[in-house]
Amino acid sequence: MATIEVVQGDITEQDTDAIVNAANESLRGGGGVDGAIHWAAGPRLAEAGAALAPCARGDAVATPGFDLDPPIRYVIHTVGPVWKGGGRGEADVLASCYRRCLEVADGLGATGLAFPAISTGIYGYPPAEAARIAVTTLTTTPTRVALIRLMAYDRAAYGLLTAALAEVA
Ligand code: APR
Repeated sequence: MATIEVVQGDITEQDTDAIVNAANESLRGGGGVDGAIHWAAGPRLAEAGAALAPCARGDAVATPGFDLDPPIRYVIHTVGPVWKGGGRGEADVLASCYRRCLEVADGLGATGLAFPAISTGIYGYPPAEAARIAVTTLTTTPTRVALIRLMAYDRAAYGLLTAALAEVA
């Protein structure tokens, strides 16, 4: 079972094997963490993404990390649900994102993996519920990933992720 830690900071500055990108189906980049990762990885990331696109919601695909520094072997792009009130299967799609990212990481032999808080920004998912789904999925999905880092981009997100992790400890 993986060790899970919550870290406040920028996912593009993490020293790990692979980082997860909260992308859109086109995999060509966007705003938020998608924009930050594409900016740091350079234009080859969008080229590699375009070759794999479209990525379905709840699915995940990997590209190299290109110019990311610290060097990152892989970017695992996943497309989260857009929050529409909770009655459209959003929770299942979000859980699928976390599960599929672990599956892709296992296929690549990645032993360290950092996640952003998928769907809690532009896609509007309530962050406390999203944190519970993330932690519940990651603690119940078998994986060979040894260290999972949940990135909190601000203090509020750090508190929610830490509380969610404490609930399952
Ligand atoms: N490092 C870590 N976390 C970050 C960073 C960063 N550099 N930048 C933003 N975040 C956090 C946000 O604060 C939020 O908690 O990532 C979380 C996800 O927010 P978004 O990036 O807006 O992603 P999402 O809500 O999944 O929306 C995805 O936005 O950028 C577009 O192309 C993307 O269409 C897709 C949509």
